Amino acid sequence: MTRSSFTEELTSASYPGRLPGQIVSGWQSPSNIALIKYWGKRPGQLPISPSLSMTLENAYTQTILTATLGDSGRSNLIINNDPAHPFLPKLNIFLNWMIAEIPVLKNYQFSVSTQNSFPHSTGIASSASGLSAFTLCLLSFAAEAISLQIPQPHLMHQASFASRMGSGSACRSLFGGFVVWGKTEEISCASDLEALPINEVIHPDLHSFQDAILVISRKPKILSSSRGHETMNSHPFVAGRINQAKDHFSGMLKALKTGDLEQVGWLAEAEALSLHALLMSSPGGAVLLEPGTLEVIQKIRGARSHGLPVFFTLDAGPNVHLLYPEADRIAVNTFIEAELTPYCQDGFWIADRCGEGPREIREISLSTTFQV
Ligand code: DP6
Repeated sequence: MTRSSFTEELTSASYPGRLPGQIVSGWQSPSNIALIKYWGKRPGQLPISPSLSMTLENAYTQTILTATLGDSGRSNLIINNDPAHPFLPKLNIFLNWMIAEIPVLKNYQFSVSTQNSFPHSTGIASSASGLSAFTLCLLSFAAEAISLQIPQPHLMHQASFASRMGSGSACRSLFGGFVVWGKTEEISCASDLEALPINEVIHPDLHSFQDAILVISRKPKILSSSRGHETMNSHPFVAGRINQAKDHFSGMLKALKTGDLEQVGWLAEAEALSLHALLMSSPGGAVLLEPGTLEVIQKIRGARSHGLPVFFTLDAGPNVHLLYPEADRIAVNTFIEAELTPYCQDGFWIADRCGEGPREIREISLSTTFQV
């Protein structure tokens, strides 16, 4: 396999034998939180700057794909038996890209059952976990259809390469721990085409890093990430952002290697605030923060000034990811319950942590029906 592309047999249009009538594949894939943000892209779904994320453990998507041999050329994707499923347009575009790359797919019709571990409409982005799970299902299915064994590490790299086309941040969810996506002078084999796990250089203390996801608002986002990336195409500060992202990336990598928690937290906060500053200063001025977001940020900084090692990051939305070391879990949970849950919608938050990456769902029952 050449790096960053599919196993040759997958892209070949000639199959060794008769294609099987039906194949079921299933994967659980996690969400990830970017410490250095992917914000802005170039044609080909390539990032304008390198990003670095931590894979989560408890926020994940489980997807079961049933592929049935059928007429080619028809609209061939159904999600949770819902013809108006919100993911359908994005998944259809992605499926068409996959079909162009892997011809065996065009012989099948696909029915997808998918569910998230986090409740529907909690404002938590599900595209990274959803797209990475769907990609793994498609690749596993395609390999089985042509009786090809793909060793797991190769499968993950190919799924990272492919899922990037569905959603950029999804390419980082194929690996556990800390993951880099995008070319950088700091890591010679990092690529714009697929993500790379960097766990062997990370300080042991950080492998158990915790993330409490504080759901400030369950409202759907007013601006999709894809539209947000577009604002960078004509943003007055794009050149400055590229330089800043490089500097922050370099500092973050150093801090993760040395286990410098203060610096990790400080840079994560700087990245989150830059992301929202870029959004607010883009044409149209998108304000995605809620008053509760700012209250929670003040509380976190207040607690930190009293010695609690708590930091925050944000996605392109109002919810706050509270980052802290495992050793302080009890004190931080007490702090969250006493001071932060009043700002969470319905008091809802998710205790999450650095996770291990995707898992195959081996016990698949055909009668399983999931709801998103
Ligand atoms: C702010 O990966 O959701 O969460 O590639 O258009 O699907 P598309 O965008 P997406 O963007 C994620 C943006 C972010 C930062 C990050 O995860 O790095």
